[in-house]
Amino acid sequence: MLLEELLQNLNGIRTDALAALQSAKTDAEIEDVKNRTLGRSGAVTALREVMAKIPPESKREAGMAFNETKNAIQNALNEARERNASATEAAEAIDVTLPGRRPAAGRLHPLTKTIQECCAIFRRMGFVAVTGPELEDVWHNFDALNAPLNHPSRDPQDTFYMPDGRLLRTQTSAVQIRTMTGMKPPVRIISPGRCYRRDTPDATHGVHFHQIEGLYVDTSVSLADLKSTLMTFAGEYFGREVAVRMRPSFFPFTEPSVECDFSCVMCGGKGCGVCKNSGWLEIAGAGMVNPKVLENVGYDPREVCGFAFGFGLERLAMLKHRIGDLRLFSDNDIRFLHQF
Ligand code: PHE
Repeated sequence: MLLEELLQNLNGIRTDALAALQSAKTDAEIEDVKNRTLGRSGAVTALREVMAKIPPESKREAGMAFNETKNAIQNALNEARERNASATEAAEAIDVTLPGRRPAAGRLHPLTKTIQECCAIFRRMGFVAVTGPELEDVWHNFDALNAPLNHPSRDPQDTFYMPDGRLLRTQTSAVQIRTMTGMKPPVRIISPGRCYRRDTPDATHGVHFHQIEGLYVDTSVSLADLKSTLMTFAGEYFGREVAVRMRPSFFPFTEPSVECDFSCVMCGGKGCGVCKNSGWLEIAGAGMVNPKVLENVGYDPREVCGFAFGFGLERLAMLKHRIGDLRLFSDNDIRFLHQF
């Protein structure tokens, strides 16, 4: 082979290799260039044999050119490897100036918040929050509350009974009994909690739901006290003035019994879709504690009297936050829960 040809070959290999190394981004690309040139079956290595056929007078020049090419490629290889290593290092380095990543925090369930809000409002009016068991006995849930034996709510069609005769309480009114049997008047409590009824679930009914019970027993308590208590509560909870209206009703454990309506918190009483154009919302069952109930817990109805009320917490939260379906509270959909 002529010297000219050898020199040309070496030059071509070198130009290609340097260009390839310049643009090589990965270790694999760099090692590929090495294999193609200086590797055991690389192009440069192959030319070594050719060297033998060079005429003696050109050997010196050929050897120099050969070594120069080898060194140039080797240097470029080293450079490329170094460049790549420091780039990887930079990519893996920790940037301490980056803002930290906050762990996703959970939040209180909207119903829990409603309970807390209600308790806070009533606490300011002097009511103490107490709780009672969800698994209740017939005496606390029905008998002591003066429910007649044939009352439909006692029916297993409406109430969940346990094999041992106990039941899942159908109303927080059972806590009235537990409270009064445990302490002497004056009594001023509220009791939030879960209740159960065999209802067919729909947008406004669930098999379980939450109530808040209120009970105030003292020497001279009147329906007017009940009304002002509920008015104060409604004003604070909804953040606007709310009128309270009472309609005669019936509950075995109150006498007289009333149904308490709030003036519509959406339209202020003018009439809208939420209040079905009546201007009023049915909110609470209430009344003066039936003297028979006072007797059942060992109080003397000639000495003390009181009022009681109970309302649904879901309904209250739905009105305040404009929630259209009760089932959303137990679906556990993060998109819903994160709005509160
Ligand atoms: N316990 C009644 C209900 O579930 C509500 C109520 C409570 C009525 C207290 C009067 C007094 O419907």
